Amino acid sequence: MITSVRENGNYSCSECHGKTGNPPITDKYDKQTRNLAGQNYQYLRTQLNHFKFARRDTKEMANTLQDYSAEEINQIAFYFSQQPQKTCLSTPP
Ligand code: HEC
Repeated sequence: MITSVRENGNYSCSECHGKTGNPPITDKYDKQTRNLAGQNYQYLRTQLNHFKFARRDTKEMANTLQDYSAEEINQIAFYFSQQPQKTCLSTPP
């Protein structure tokens, strides 16, 4: 059982989504990276499989899930579903 995506030897998720799935606000990508922290496990698992099998087409997410087995995808979804969601991601002016 992985306790973080980093331990799974993959750094790519945290680069965009943050280590705990609370993404920084950035205009680096065409689409705003989404919050994963505390999202529903089944929902996350379904979306990850959609990206893996290119049923959901997002260029930022293309090829990020290909190397993960079904079991690893379940674990990634579980990991992010258990992370506390930050209520405010940036300090208002
Ligand atoms: C290059 C940046 C980037 C990387 C690396 C990346 N993502 Fe994403 N991810 C995005 C963006 C941007 C979106 C929003 C896509 C959209 O709006 O359709 C997204 C969407 C998602 C979603 C859908 C969330 C929702 O609310 O529907 C999940 C789940 C997800 N990413 C998980 C991951 C995981 C797990 C990894 C690592 C294996 C990863 N991402 C790596 C940029 C990235």
